[in-house]
Order: sequence, then structure tokens, then C-alpha cells
Amino acid sequence: TFVVTDNCVKCKYTDCVEVCPVDCFYEGPNFLVIHPDECIDCALCEPECPAEAIYAEDEVPDDMQEYIELNQELADIWPNITEKKDPLPDAEEWDGVENKIEHLER
Ligand code: SF4
Ligand code: F3S
Repeated sequence: TFVVTDNCVKCKYTDCVEVCPVDCFYEGPNFLVIHPDECIDCALCEPECPAEAIYAEDEVPDDMQEYIELNQELADIWPNITEKKDPLPDAEEWDGVENKIEHLER
């Protein structure tokens, strides 16, 4: 499965959802997650993210391991998203800021 990680928080560009053939992205207030049971590992979304926030599960950086469980947990709670929308208003300013997990809204 693929995993959405830290740099999506407060950016949420949503380019990723447009290319997903199985529509397995789920949307929270300022972050997206991938449902690990639905992702078919096609890898199409990874290069689409302007924030480079998407990784294959076995390539998630050490300091972002907690996002693997977060994707699983939140994908069961949040609604499905299948179409691109505008990024969050301050996306450019937050793109590249590290350790945004404290800002993740549920
Ligand atoms: Fe969707 Fe493919 Fe990305 Fe999985 S790897 S979330 S199936 S686009
Ligand atoms: Fe997030 Fe990147 Fe998608 S910022 S919403 S994972 S395009």
C-alpha cells in the first residue's frame, strides 16, 4: 500500500485523488489518507503529489512511521474524496515545513 505522510498536512493539494484508479483516498479537514485495504499499489499517485508526501509503505521515512497507522485509522472514519479541489489557502507556506503532525485536524 501507499501512505500519505507529513507534508500533506495543511497543504492538501489533492492532485493525488485524480489519478487513483480505485478511489481510495479519504479526506479530513487538512490532510488526506489512503485506505490500505483498497490501495492496489499502482504507484500512480506518488509522483502527482506536489508536496512529495506519498510513499510506498516500505519506503516511509523513519521519522514518519506513525503515518502508516494513521492512514489505516483515519481511512475508516473520514469520507471518500474522488475529485480534485483547491489546495488549502496557506498550502504554499506550509509546503516543506517539518513535523506538521501536531497540526493534523481530525
Ligand atoms: Fe490509488 Fe494507486 Fe495511489 Fe494506491 S498507489 S492510492 S491505488 S493511485
Ligand atoms: Fe496531500 Fe499531496 Fe494528495 S499534498 S492531498 S497527498 S497531492
